Amino acid sequence: MFHLAYISKASHPMTRHELVNLLAKAKGKNERNGITGLLLHKNGRFVQVLEGEEDVVRPLFDLIRQDHRHTEVTILIEESIAQRQFFDWSMGFHDLDASDILGLYGNSKPLGKSLDIEGFKENPGACLTLLQFVRDLHLTRTTDQSRPA
Ligand SMILES: Cc1cc2nc3c(=O)[nH]c(=O)nc-3n(C[C@H](O)[C@H](O)[C@H](O)COP(=O)(O)O)c2cc1C
Repeated sequence: MFHLAYISKASHPMTRHELVNLLAKAKGKNERNGITGLLLHKNGRFVQVLEGEEDVVRPLFDLIRQDHRHTEVTILIEESIAQRQFFDWSMGFHDLDASDILGLYGNSKPLGKSLDIEGFKENPGACLTLLQFVRDLHLTRTTDQSRPA
């Protein structure tokens, strides 16, 4: 099992409609490909983790990297893992712009500037900490924001 996390910048401000379309297609394809993960969006930035077999994740990432809907795609983490961490999600989604999560995340955690490309490059592990924090909060909440309305 393998995972890859990256940060990128949306090419233009994406509407809810565009995000929903992107996710609907991504989820269907990920399910067929055995890919799981989580996509975060905030203020025109994306952070995504993809997990699955390496020979499936890498070609998918190459495709995603070339997608014109985002630029400055920067890999933060690529490594083997013992087991999936987002096994419930063919692709979870959380829009941090429309969420109170960062308030709960607190300043003490290793993430001063949220979804800041330079900040994450300096501290790549912080992106996994954030992704896992969002996952754990979803698991304890009754509403599922990973499914856009
Ligand atoms: C931020 C972002 C995240 C994406 N995530 C996924 C994903 O998890 N899975 C996926 O299949 N496509 C994802 N895509 C879309 C791919 O870039 C690409 O458009 C899609 O896989 C093309 O599929 P098709 O060639 O089968 O139509 C993402 C695109 C963007 C901009």
